Amino acid sequence: MERLRLAALISGRGSNLQALIDTCRAADFPAEIRLVISNRPNAAGLDYAAQAGIDALVIDHTDFPDRTTFEKRLDCCLHDAGIELVCLAGFMRLLTAEFVGSWRNRLVNIHPSLLPAFRGTKVHERVIAAGVRISGCTVHYVRPEVDSGPIILQAAVPVHQSDDPNTLAERVLRAEHQTYPQAVRLIAEGRVNIEGDRLKIDNGAVPTLLWLPGP
Ligand code: GRF
Repeated sequence: MERLRLAALISGRGSNLQALIDTCRAADFPAEIRLVISNRPNAAGLDYAAQAGIDALVIDHTDFPDRTTFEKRLDCCLHDAGIELVCLAGFMRLLTAEFVGSWRNRLVNIHPSLLPAFRGTKVHERVIAAGVRISGCTVHYVRPEVDSGPIILQAAVPVHQSDDPNTLAERVLRAEHQTYPQAVRLIAEGRVNIEGDRLKIDNGAVPTLLWLPGP
């Protein structure tokens, strides 16, 4: 079986990377992680790549004079590794419209809210401040505008009255670890069709992820 060649771009903890690594271990999973790139030399997620024997590179953005030269290096490394799908997994650099355009429909991201609500940073603080009862996570194709693009999968989690941003983040993160691999599977199986701003999933059920763990 030809497996879809993935790269994961990280900046920090790497728990979504770990979830993808774990899923890709199954012999019948239709994708494999060929390359991990971190823009931060001390990203904890680099250890997960090392433990799994996956090629990992540090491309430290502070070594480059501007975004464009940084992204050129990124782009070269991705092409050299024959990457077919780039998964942003806690990658904390904004990408230019040029880069996003050149990887159009081959670049996905996970965001810890139910987009299009709560784009940007400090999501869980804002979710709690807004008093919403349900939050979640979204895997989407990347478009130049931050945290936008056709939605592939979402998972919903409850927001409890007793939540603080940390407890909510933890619950959403557990949902993220289920959702990202499922979205990658749909893409790798060739079931995802992008139609403008929306996307249709062919052949079979669309996983509905309502995540209702205990408190
Ligand atoms: C996740 O919450 C993800 O949704 C967001 O950044 C965080 C990364 O966490 N984009 P990790 O590095 O995967 O643990």
